[in-house]
Amino acid sequence: MQKLYTDPLTKGMLLLEDWTNKIATSKYNPFYYHGALPQFFLWVLFLTGLLLFAYYIPTIDNAYASEKLINAWTSVDYITNTIPFGAVFRGMHRYAGDAMVLTIVLHVLRVWFTDRYRQYRIVQWLSGVVLLLMVLFIGQTGYYLVWDDRSLILTRMTVSAFDALPLIGGPLKTWFLNGEEITNLTLSNFLFIHIGLSFGLLFGLWIHYVRMQRPVITPPPAINYILVAILLMVVAWMPIASGNMAQLTQQPTSFEIDWFFLWPYWMMANMPLGAYWLVLIVGTVLLCLIPYTAKTPPVEAAEVVLNKCTGCSLCSKDCPYNAIEMVPAPAGSRFKLLATVKEFRCSGCGVCVGACAFDAIDLPNLLDTDVTSQIKALVQN
Ligand code: HEM
Ligand code: SF4
Ligand code: SF4
Repeated sequence: MQKLYTDPLTKGMLLLEDWTNKIATSKYNPFYYHGALPQFFLWVLFLTGLLLFAYYIPTIDNAYASEKLINAWTSVDYITNTIPFGAVFRGMHRYAGDAMVLTIVLHVLRVWFTDRYRQYRIVQWLSGVVLLLMVLFIGQTGYYLVWDDRSLILTRMTVSAFDALPLIGGPLKTWFLNGEEITNLTLSNFLFIHIGLSFGLLFGLWIHYVRMQRPVITPPPAINYILVAILLMVVAWMPIASGNMAQLTQQPTSFEIDWFFLWPYWMMANMPLGAYWLVLIVGTVLLCLIPYTAKTPPVEAAEVVLNKCTGCSLCSKDCPYNAIEMVPAPAGSRFKLLATVKEFRCSGCGVCVGACAFDAIDLPNLLDTDVTSQIKALVQN
C-alpha cells in the first residue's frame, strides 16, 4: 500500500486530480467520472444515431446517373441540408464519437496510472480492450456510410488489408463487402455492422461492469449539460460536410484523416500491409498483457469466521468487487445464510471487515494496528 501511493505515475495522477479539485471541486472533477464520460457519449451517439438512421438509405444505386438520386450520399446530404437541425445531429454524432475515444484514453490512463487495472480487475481490463477495438471499428464503419470519396478509398484500403492476410483474408473480404465486389449489399452490411456492433457494446459493457458493485456510470447533470454545450459549440465551429459522392469508376488518392478513428489507415498508407497487421496484433496483445507486467505481492483474501457469521449480508452488499457470495448455512446452524469469499475476486480492501458488526470477517495478517500505522506513514509522506 505504501509503495503504491509513492509510485511516480500514481503520485502525478493524484496531484493532477488534486489540482483539478481546486478549480472544479471534487463533486465536478471530471477525473472522478473517467468511466462515466465515455458511457455518457455512448448515450449521445445512440440518440443522435437514431435520427440519422431514420433518414439514411444504404444504397450506392445510380451513383452519378440522374439528377434525383436516392442513395447513401444523397440521404446524408438530405439529413444535413434539409431536415431541421439535421446538420446539428450529424455533427453531434460525429464529435460525440471523437469525444468517446478521447475519454476512453483518459479512462485507461486513469485506471493504469492509479494502479486500478490488474489482479481482481483483470476482467474489466480485458473487456475494456475488446470495447476499445469495437469502438474504433464502429467509428470507421461510420465513415464508410457517408459514401463519399473518403468512404470509397477507406473501403478499398480495408479490402487490400484483408487481401494481405493469409487464409482468413479472402473470407474476411467477402464478409466485409457482402459479396466479391462493392454493391448495394455492401452498404447494407456496413450499416448492419455499425448498428449491430453498437448494440454489442452494451453487452461488452455488462461484462465490464459485472464485477463492480457500484460502478460510477453517470456524471452529474451539470457535467452532462456542459458536455452537450461543448459539443454544440464544436458543431457550430466546425460543421460536418461530406466530400464528393463516391464513384466506383474513379480512384481517389488522398483523404482527410480523423485522428481519433482513422489512424490505422494512416498506418496502412505508410507501411507494408504485413507490417501493419503485425503492429496491430502485437499492439493489442501487449495491451492485454499490461496487467500481468506489474510485480506485486499476492492479495491476502478476506476470511469468514464461520462460527461468528450471522448471515446478515452486510459485507456482501458493501464489497466493491462482488467478491462475497451468500450461500445457505450448513445444516444445524442457527442462521439461514453464510458469507463466503470468492478469493480470486477479493482485493483485500477490508471494506467487509468494517461492514461486519460481528467480527465475523478478517483480513489475514492485517491487524487494525497495522492499518493505522500504514495510514500514518502515508499521511507523513
Ligand atoms: C466503451 C468504453 C468504456 C466505457 C464506457 C467504460 C466504462 C467504465 C466505467 C463506468 C467504470 C467504473 C468506474 C468507476 O466506478 O470509477 C470502468 C471501470 C474500469 N474500466 Fe472501463 N470503460 C471503457 C473502456 C475501458 C478500456 C478500453 C479499459 C482498458 C483497457 C478499461 C478498463 C477499466 C478498468 C480496469 C476498470 C476498473 C477501475 C476501478 O475498479 O476503479 N475500460 N469502466
Ligand atoms: S476485502 Fe472484503 S470487501 Fe474487499 S474485496 Fe475482499 S471480500 Fe470484498
Ligand atoms: S457482515 Fe459479518 S455477519 Fe454479516 S454476513 Fe458478513 S461476515 Fe457474516
